Amino acid sequence: MLFLGIESSCDETGVALVQTQAHGAPRLLAHALFSQIDMHQAYGGVVPELASRDHIKRVIPLTREVLKNANIELNKVDVVAYTRGPGLAGALLVGAGVACALGAALQKPVLGVHHLEGHLLSPFLSEDPPEFPFVALLVSGGHTQLMRVEAVGAYEILGETVDDAAGEAFDKSAKLMGLGYPGGPALSKCAEGGDPQAFKLPRPLMHSGNFDFSFAGLKTSVLTQATKLGAALHDTSTTHKADLAASTEAAIVEVLVKKSMAALKAIGMRRLVVAGGVGANRSLRLRLNQACEKAGIRVHYPELHLCTDNGAMIAMAAAMRVQSGRQEAQFHYGFDVKPRWPLSHIESLNP
Ligand code: KG4
Ligand code: ZN
Repeated sequence: MLFLGIESSCDETGVALVQTQAHGAPRLLAHALFSQIDMHQAYGGVVPELASRDHIKRVIPLTREVLKNANIELNKVDVVAYTRGPGLAGALLVGAGVACALGAALQKPVLGVHHLEGHLLSPFLSEDPPEFPFVALLVSGGHTQLMRVEAVGAYEILGETVDDAAGEAFDKSAKLMGLGYPGGPALSKCAEGGDPQAFKLPRPLMHSGNFDFSFAGLKTSVLTQATKLGAALHDTSTTHKADLAASTEAAIVEVLVKKSMAALKAIGMRRLVVAGGVGANRSLRLRLNQACEKAGIRVHYPELHLCTDNGAMIAMAAAMRVQSGRQEAQFHYGFDVKPRWPLSHIESLNP
């Protein structure tokens, strides 16, 4: 079966084609992405109205590009999948509207996907796909969660952030340091060559005994340090900025690694799957690899280019849901979107 996936929840328009196989995980045939980063950069963050308008411009040309690259005609698509939530309402409506219009025109069923389930299942598109069950560390711009994953759709949240997400901590700290948007890659780049121990930053909830996270206090400490340094922070003859960036990254990474290892130990699992934009972070991958190797744990990541938002993960999640019998695509073209949609409510998603 051929699944067309459309992602438009935030600042990336993604379209992809995934095909199920008789054996093994579905396969990615082609994908195309347009990132709005340049457009939002001038505002220091995503402007929802501009995001929606741009998705409208991109989604059809990207769909054409994907079909052309896969050498597949539109009417061969069996299911049209789209991100139903969570995300920006107007942006989600664009992908949902186009997907349902395509479904209605082709008389093919449609399926609304949970964006986080897309991230969670994206490592199945990699060369070294995981096997169920596993512990998942989902680290994106809006979410930080540790999950016990038994099968497609069987997700139990072990812990999550009580305030800012890990990606948000990167983004907000980077902004305070004048590093631009999106902050994760910018801060990580700045941190290269910096001393991760130069500044003593808090590791919130590290020893809380549960699997929850808190990153809001870290941002405040970064602000305090940046304020203390004043103009010296930007003095290129010093390493202050690289040191503060490295110290911030180290604080976030250390908490993520410690909690992931503790969760694996507590529930006795030997497989970890990392997903979401922060999963692209080099330092996080390095530290997790070291900790997992020491503890005899297998760790899986999405391909680097599929860590942040993309259409492939949406087509993949739809394909895996249908293939596993968790959900049927519907010949129902009236749509709604769910800007706020906890992953734990995923089973109540049929229209
Ligand atoms: O998963 P994602 O694309 O979007 C959401 O669903 O939220 O994640 C975006 C987040 C942003 O906060 C971005 O700064 C962060 O992922 N990010 C990174 C890196 N690449 C993206 N954070 C740290 N290091 C990176 N290399
Ligand atoms: Zn995302």
